[in-house]
Amino acid sequence: MVILGIETSCDECSASIVKIEKGTQAHVLSLSTFSQIEIHQPYGGVVPEIASRNHLETINAMIETALRDSQIQTQEISAIAVTNRPGLVGALLVGVSAAKALAYAWKKPLIPVHHLEGHAASLYLEDLEMPRRPTAFPLLLAIVSGGHTNLYCLNQEPEDWPLDLLKSSLVGRTRDDAAGEAFDKIAKILGFPYPGGMWIDEEAKKGDPTAYALPRALPQKAILDYSFSGLKTAVSLLATRLKKEGCFESERSNLCASAQEAIVDALLSKIFLAVKQYGCKSLALVGGVAANSRLRLRLDEEWKRAGLVEAPRFPKLKYCTDNAAMIAAAGAFRFSQGHALPFNEMLTLNAVANPEI
Ligand code: KG4
Ligand code: ZN
Repeated sequence: MVILGIETSCDECSASIVKIEKGTQAHVLSLSTFSQIEIHQPYGGVVPEIASRNHLETINAMIETALRDSQIQTQEISAIAVTNRPGLVGALLVGVSAAKALAYAWKKPLIPVHHLEGHAASLYLEDLEMPRRPTAFPLLLAIVSGGHTNLYCLNQEPEDWPLDLLKSSLVGRTRDDAAGEAFDKIAKILGFPYPGGMWIDEEAKKGDPTAYALPRALPQKAILDYSFSGLKTAVSLLATRLKKEGCFESERSNLCASAQEAIVDALLSKIFLAVKQYGCKSLALVGGVAANSRLRLRLDEEWKRAGLVEAPRFPKLKYCTDNAAMIAAAGAFRFSQGHALPFNEMLTLNAVANPEI
């Protein structure tokens, strides 16, 4: 099965050709992504109108490049998968319209994909260097990105994912900011460009994670939810004080290391709590924040003590942030379950900014 995936939910314009073999082994034949980061940087965050306009300008080139790089002929494509929810509605609509047009012209089935199912499917993008797919269930899956910090307890391989997967397996979520959003807002306070996660990650390597005591919200053992807005306020107050005292610049790496440690501590404490509460045997982290080096190091040191039977799984770095390969893989799993849209319904597919799940 060969799937063309399209992703335009936020600020990455991406197309990919993925070939599925032996059930759920997803081989990425090509991936072509244009990141709009530099375009949004002067505004300190993603500007939705600019994002949609730029997707319009780049989507055709991304699809053409993905097709050419894969050396696949259009006749070999089994179906087209597109992110249609959640995301910036104008941005989503560009991908959805392109996918509809191609599905109509090429007479291919169209599969709408939930962006978070795409992140979950990123674990199945094959990599011969190291095992990525979890093999023991239940699996605790943490989706940690710029828009979401959700914990799921999954009992099935992708071929058996129920349609309400994201609703029925959700066990914890953030009550305010997402972890990536916390990284980005704190980075902005500390004077780094958008998106700030990777800048904090780098700067923190030079600092002391115990330099400042910053809050870890919702410490109660019965709660699996997150809250990061208090941390952002605490860092802001601290930065103002250090500026007044004239030592902000010299303390910046300590601030980064301490803030990062607070986010990593919060993430890990609820992840391990959920592993315990739900008797999970394996753990996987996906989404942009899963690229964080401190988070990966801490997990490396701590997973055995949590009673997990295999090392935590992460997608390859390039599949942690938004990309169309994960959307193609998620679309393939749904396609093999028979969930492509019938031809007569295909053209009515819409983008949904905030779906219930
Ligand atoms: O999954 P993603 O590409 O987009 C969403 O679906 O939101 O995640 C983007 C987020 C941003 O908030 C970015 O700052 C964060 O992932 N991020 C990181 C790192 N790399 C990206 N956060 C912490 N450390 C990193 N190395
Ligand atoms: Zn994402």
